[in-house]
Amino acid sequence: MAEGRLAVCPGSYDPVTNGHLDIIGRTANVFDSVVVGVVGQAIRKQAALFTPEERKAFLVEATADLPNVRIEVFTNLLVEFARAEGAIAIVKGLRAISDFEYEFEMNQLNRRLAPEIESVYVIASPDYSFLSSTGVREMATFGGDVSDLVPAPVAAALAERLKRA
Ligand code: PNS
Repeated sequence: MAEGRLAVCPGSYDPVTNGHLDIIGRTANVFDSVVVGVVGQAIRKQAALFTPEERKAFLVEATADLPNVRIEVFTNLLVEFARAEGAIAIVKGLRAISDFEYEFEMNQLNRRLAPEIESVYVIASPDYSFLSSTGVREMATFGGDVSDLVPAPVAAALAERLKRA
């Protein structure tokens, strides 16, 4: 099925937050279709809390109301994944200046590898400019209430997972 002008929204999504959903929803408003790419490889020193399939399942549920969004796990280079999906753009959220330096470097590297795929940056809504998966995990680890920061199934899974940790 042709999916028109398609964007990829990549991320670890460990776990998805309401900030991610804000970026995904706004991207879905301006592109014909969106593929959310969940990183399936370990890219951080710290082990992931949820498996790629668990992270995908949270996203599938949280985006069920967005008909032009689908979720895939990828384990290759982001630009190769985007190219295989037929994407014209990689869309990323930017919160604060601190995000810029990393994204600037990634932008230059990705541009060298796939100059035909444009990187597009969506500025986080003020409500979410402080929000990160890392922060949510840390809050939840110490019993903080994250129910207004993540979808309900994620909040429940965090409580369950961290209780056993
Ligand atoms: O901040 P995140 O959500 O962990 O970012 C993940 C991702 C894939 C968006 C970021 O690491 C990135 O832009 N990587 C580009 C380099 C690449 O292709 N890595 C392989 C990932 S499987």
